Amino acid sequence: MWLALTAAALVLVALAPGLVHSQADIQVLSNPAFENDQRPPAVFNHDEHNAVAELEDQCWYCHHMDGANPSPDEDSIGIPCADCHSVEAMEDMTPLMMAYHKQCKECHMKEKAGPITCGECHVR
Ligand code: HEC
Ligand code: HEC
Ligand code: HEC
Ligand code: HEC
Repeated sequence: MWLALTAAALVLVALAPGLVHSQADIQVLSNPAFENDQRPPAVFNHDEHNAVAELEDQCWYCHHMDGANPSPDEDSIGIPCADCHSVEAMEDMTPLMMAYHKQCKECHMKEKAGPITCGECHVR
């Protein structure tokens, strides 16, 4: 009995940090796929951004399986952008830097909210 309770308590302790950061503990984006970064990392406080921009029920929009046709019925959460979008241009696939810039900036322009200029995202 005592042993079983102790084991249960240990499991709870082990799970706790995972529960606190249930989504993504991201403050800035700096993709190691880019060698020799030309710019400082882009600021992106994942959870806070998505709460303020009211995107918490639209994970599938950014984490799409097919960005030309994003659908709420499927998502790629857990798969890095770089797994599908390579740094070098490949046939019919948006290259990695353009993928970030297009996704971030197109929405900011459409919503007339959020940064558009280089220095607002790549903050020194
Ligand atoms: C499972 C694979 C996959 C993942 C992961 C993925 N994409 Fe895509 N994405 C695609 C496919 C397929 C297309 C359609 C071909 C194209 O236009 O590049 C696409 C298209 C895009 C486009 C162009 C959309 C348009 O309007 O033409 C952007 C921008 C984009 N992705 C950004 C991202 C970003 C940023 C991430 C990470 C948050 C990401 N993608 C993750 C597969 C993926
Ligand atoms: C505005 C676009 C956007 C939205 C909306 C979004 N994410 Fe993300 N998320 C990102 C980007 C960008 C990354 C970094 C991926 C990369 O660079 O490969 C990321 C990374 C992640 C990661 C990986 C965490 C890590 O530490 O590696 C998880 C998990 C995740 N997101 C979950 C979610 C969930 C769950 C939702 C919906 C509640 C969501 N995201 C909504 C853009 C978004
Ligand atoms: C689908 C729409 C959408 C996408 C995609 C999106 N954003 Fe935003 N973003 C917004 C909106 C809306 C705001 C303004 C929120 C407010 O202040 O009301 C914003 C604000 C911001 C801000 C300023 C506020 C803050 O959280 O610091 C930053 C920085 C930012 N976005 C970075 C990014 C980056 C980097 C990406 C791409 C990885 C991205 N955004 C993708 C909608 C979007
Ligand atoms: C809405 C936010 C946003 C804006 C505006 C923006 N970027 Fe980025 N940029 C990103 C994100 C996100 C990445 C991918 C993460 C990273 O490596 O910083 C990126 C990556 C890059 C990279 C590849 C990585 C590196 O540092 O070498 C370069 C170069 C770059 N951006 C240059 C620019 C320039 C030049 C401008 C202005 C014309 C600009 N960006 C505007 C968000 C932005």
